[in-house]
Amino acid sequence: MENAVETEELTRTFGSLVAVDRLSLVVRRPEIFGLVGPDGSGKTTTLRMLAGILAPSSGRARVLGFDVVRQAEEVKARIGYMPQRFSLYGDLTVQENLAFFAEVFRVPAREREPRMAELLEFAALSPFRNRRAEYLSGGMKQKLALACTLIHRPQLLLLDEPTTGVDPVARRDFWSILYRLLGQGVTILVSTPYMDEAERCSRVGLLSLGRLLTAGTPQELKAAYPHQVLEVRASPVGEALALLRRLPQTIDTQIFGESLHLVVQDARAAQEPVRRILENAGLRVQSLRPIAPSMEDLFMALLRPDRAKDQAP
Ligand SMILES: Nc1ncnc2c1ncn2[C@@H]1O[C@H](COP(=O)(O)OP(=O)(O)OP(=O)(O)O)[C@@H](O)[C@H]1O
Ligand SMILES: [Mg+2]
Repeated sequence: MENAVETEELTRTFGSLVAVDRLSLVVRRPEIFGLVGPDGSGKTTTLRMLAGILAPSSGRARVLGFDVVRQAEEVKARIGYMPQRFSLYGDLTVQENLAFFAEVFRVPAREREPRMAELLEFAALSPFRNRRAEYLSGGMKQKLALACTLIHRPQLLLLDEPTTGVDPVARRDFWSILYRLLGQGVTILVSTPYMDEAERCSRVGLLSLGRLLTAGTPQELKAAYPHQVLEVRASPVGEALALLRRLPQTIDTQIFGESLHLVVQDARAAQEPVRRILENAGLRVQSLRPIAPSMEDLFMALLRPDRAKDQAP
């Protein structure tokens, strides 16, 4: 079957700014493809071009087999696009919001009621069907926005940071819905700033300054990671960080909650020198262990190849 999305050198400029720079990307059918990148890297601009609502400056994109410029109406009828700031109607109830979108997407009248009931059930919103949208929790609002996006049974979803600002439990909830949709054959292209979500995608693409730095499955990307990571648990963590940045073996350091990730060429060989420098300074070392790189380690390495020790105190 043909790919859900194919772009070729897709580019969008705003004046002299290149927001999306010769992006060539394939999203297969079905998969959950994660578009990951820092603020301003071009995620929203890419999704808007794919949704047929922003014209590319150059290059091409086909969505579900249709050209996003010449066949924008065909594209719009078949996709569900959830913008970064999705506008629900706060003074309408959950059910009324769904009915509104059913109208906009011209869902045939006799299909509306069953489709709305199905989506309310699917998003676990049935008990709240008569609640005004403005009184929903953040997580419920996002689930309602997704339900509205699904009203016309799109084959492809373009979701722009659908879980940003939502608590971790609600985020997990939202992702379990995405997996169920994938199981039904729906392809999902989702942008996210969260690395744990990148980890859950079938494939991931990393954008920086409008350019695609790399794409592949999380496993493939990790296998290409050029260094090793030593997880260091020592307290106080701030002092440990300052000391470890001075070690000649250190390529990079990152704080992950209570622990530190020390990026080195050889994690096993680094264990002893690390223990020594910390203990000699009177710090308490709880544990040192070589670990597989996380998605965040990976992206840090790709985004700042010359990060090295430039931030040493
Ligand atoms: N309509 C516009 N006019 C001018 N510049 C724009 C416009 N839309 C986006 N840009 C610029 O294009 C670049 C990419 O923006 P975009 O919104 O696509 O990034 P993003 O990855 O979605 O960021 P965020 O994570 O903050 O949502 C940014 O530098 C942004 O300021
Ligand atoms: Mg954005």
